[in-house]
Amino acid sequence: MARIRDDFPFIVKHPDIAYFDNAATTLKPKCVIDAVTDYYENLSSNIHRGDYETSLITSQKYESARQKTAQFINTEAKNIVFTSGASESLNLVAYGYGKTCLKAGDVVLLNESEHASNTLPWYSLAQDIGIKVEFIKLDSNGRITETALRNAMHDDVKVVSIAHISNVLGYINDIKHIGQIVHEFGAVLCVDGAQSIGHMPVDVNELDVDFYAFSAHKMLGPTGVGVLYGKPELLKVMNPIAHGGGSNVRFNACGEVVLKEAPAKFEAGTPNIEGVIGFGAALDYLNDLGMANIHEIVDPLHKKVIDGLLEMEHVKVYNPESDSAIVSFSVDGIFAQDVAAYLNKEKVYVRSGEHCAKMLNGVLHAEKSIRLSLYFYNTEAEIQQFLEAMRTITLEKCIDLYI
Ligand SMILES: Cc1ncc(COP(=O)(O)O)c(C=O)c1O
Repeated sequence: MARIRDDFPFIVKHPDIAYFDNAATTLKPKCVIDAVTDYYENLSSNIHRGDYETSLITSQKYESARQKTAQFINTEAKNIVFTSGASESLNLVAYGYGKTCLKAGDVVLLNESEHASNTLPWYSLAQDIGIKVEFIKLDSNGRITETALRNAMHDDVKVVSIAHISNVLGYINDIKHIGQIVHEFGAVLCVDGAQSIGHMPVDVNELDVDFYAFSAHKMLGPTGVGVLYGKPELLKVMNPIAHGGGSNVRFNACGEVVLKEAPAKFEAGTPNIEGVIGFGAALDYLNDLGMANIHEIVDPLHKKVIDGLLEMEHVKVYNPESDSAIVSFSVDGIFAQDVAAYLNKEKVYVRSGEHCAKMLNGVLHAEKSIRLSLYFYNTEAEIQQFLEAMRTITLEKCIDLYI
């Protein structure tokens, strides 16, 4: 573990901080920072455009990151579109696929635990072309059951868009099984993998998903890079949502445009080159660590957080049965943001609020909550630091922060 922690400059420089906001973004290992710096110091060129050495090397590194991404989820590089993040990837599904292939009256099925990025693009499309958005009913714990999914499916459902792991409750959805049901109805399954991809092995072939969207920065990579995996036949019929250099074969003064094949047709303009190259280094790091090992490291820590919080009478845990490293809770009589501010004073970093899943309030019966999310570099000592702060928190101490 000491070796792992030494890989992260933030941890080395701030050993007193317990960073537990990994669902928002993870820390970055030195190899990722070095890859980004190396691009600026030694390459600093655009991709796919230049015939000089640094441009050729840059293009090669960029495409090698695409290849690594493809291998990471067991597909081919041509099925990997680089975007600016999971949000843009999901917007690309809604607007690139949805606007092209859906019509007024078609239904997109969501659920109330989805992140804004997997809800608002569909709402926008509903306003734009008249599709309808419907919801799978969550059970009292906020989970999706097979019965609820089957009850929500019907012939007009053309897309089901669902998170692999909920960013508030940490439940893992059984995507393979969900996909089988969705495909029985001839609908397309889009999976928001923002919270899963950095925590568990993902094989898009085995899961048989149609789209899989995620962000690099939640899996050790730089911010501003995302991925959309799409089945080739879907990427083929989709239209890009941005147009410009690099995405076309030719165009003329009559307005005729011939686009390149996927993924190039979706990547108009100069992309986040250094970010994609840094992401390649993040994938190398995760491969060395072994994706299957992450659960083994995180699960005992997760259990300690849950057990510790459940012992505290002043704390309510919303997802004691969470399947992954996300714990959502509140403290009796203290606003979530004040709890987070108090924990900040104790050098414990968590997130408070609605976590961009604002429809979940009704299910949780809570306006706002505090979310602690773990990653493999967290330690038992950090958890003790957190639990000690939680044991001793009082409203008075929180008020004192503002005096
Ligand atoms: C489940 C889920 N989906 C989508 C997103 C959006 O990711 P990004 O902000 O990197 O685009 C997030 C980010 O928190 C998320 O947790």
